Amino acid sequence: MTILVTGGAGFIGSNFVLDWLKQSDEPVVTLDALTYAGNLENLASLDGDARHSFVKGDICDRALIDQLLATHKPRALVHFAAESHVDRSISGPGAFMRTNIEGTYTLLEAARAYWSGLGDEAKAAFRFHHVSTDEVYGSLQADDPQFAETKAYEPNSPYSASKAASDHLVRAWHHTYGLPVITTNCSNNYGPYHFPEKLIPLMIVNALAGKPLPIYGDGQNVRDWLYVTDHASAIRAVLAGGRLGETYNVGGWNEMTNLEIVNTVCELLDELRPDATGSYKRLITYVKDRPGHDRRYAIDARKIERELGWRPAETFATGIRKTVQWYLDNPEWVQRVQSGAYREWVQAQYAQA
Ligand code: NAD
Ligand code: DAU
Repeated sequence: MTILVTGGAGFIGSNFVLDWLKQSDEPVVTLDALTYAGNLENLASLDGDARHSFVKGDICDRALIDQLLATHKPRALVHFAAESHVDRSISGPGAFMRTNIEGTYTLLEAARAYWSGLGDEAKAAFRFHHVSTDEVYGSLQADDPQFAETKAYEPNSPYSASKAASDHLVRAWHHTYGLPVITTNCSNNYGPYHFPEKLIPLMIVNALAGKPLPIYGDGQNVRDWLYVTDHASAIRAVLAGGRLGETYNVGGWNEMTNLEIVNTVCELLDELRPDATGSYKRLITYVKDRPGHDRRYAIDARKIERELGWRPAETFATGIRKTVQWYLDNPEWVQRVQSGAYREWVQAQYAQA
């Protein structure tokens, strides 16, 4: 059987596809629009691998989705495609409403039509896996309990509101039409192929370039951090054994302030790539806060552990060391992303095909 992955050229999607094909021979079809965040180079190691095929396209394109479902007859659709960056959602929310809400709606309708037409066995096996975020739950105070799956939604940014809307659509398509859906709500991921607009990769690449390390507000906002391949293993566990119509929170049991994160990145760089001018911490610069900046996210991941036996394999100490080392080992990837040359790289791949 095949799985169809949307957004598989992005940060988490590409890590998921690479991890999936390491763990199994089940073919993957990746659908991705290759927005600024989509980088086919992330999947370059799969070039020539018959188990993987890539389709450039938009999740809002119903005819294309129908055609992909009819052609590949996937047993699961794993939906990562989204506009994902909170700051971009504040300066330009339109793309978030279109991709995250309309795109999810389009996929749900296409999946519903496809699933309705399947035989009983295939119908029972099919899964629509929706990849979502802890940001839908809103912001916690320091002493509030972590987010459980029962926590009311209180999204605060255009990004989290659009993801919350998509979660509600997924829930409704199960409740009303019986579509076999499962949603995972995950905390902040980090690891290889992370676009350097997000906190951790931005700090690494700026530090290496001797540029300021911008910390929003007082740097005391808290996030829970999960190494990206642990997210991939959680999705595999949920696809294999998750209960239909349920949501599972996925997290790393690893709450840290932004300042702690940036200090850790600087200390690792001081060790691995010492700078003659002194510690990279000298580059830390406090800047204007993000509007509506959520103070704290924290995930209670006991349900997925209790029901499916999933726990993260990496600690933050092991994951962040691997991550910093990956950026040190892949300066060409960073350079092509920063210069925009990765887009030319993608065009070159198409030209060769
Ligand atoms: P990303 O921005 O790195 O990648 C998104 C991918 O979706 C890109 O490859 C992009 O080209 C593609 N895409 C965007 N619009 C599209 C469209 N209309 N049609 C087809 N493809 C389109 O995002 P990410 O960080 O990898 O996040 C993946 C998913 O995981 C998102 O749904 C996000 O909400 C969720 N999530 C992310 C995190 C995190 O820490 N990054 C945490 C929890 C959940
Ligand atoms: O919680 C899961 C979410 O994590 C995902 O759903 C989002 O797709 C993903 O982008 C991420 O959202 P955040 O807003 O938490 O991630 P970001 O890396 O943008 O910021 C992390 C924290 O660091 C946040 O408190 C803002 C702060 N920050 C960020 C940047 C880019 C800074 O202080 N300076 C910066 O330059």
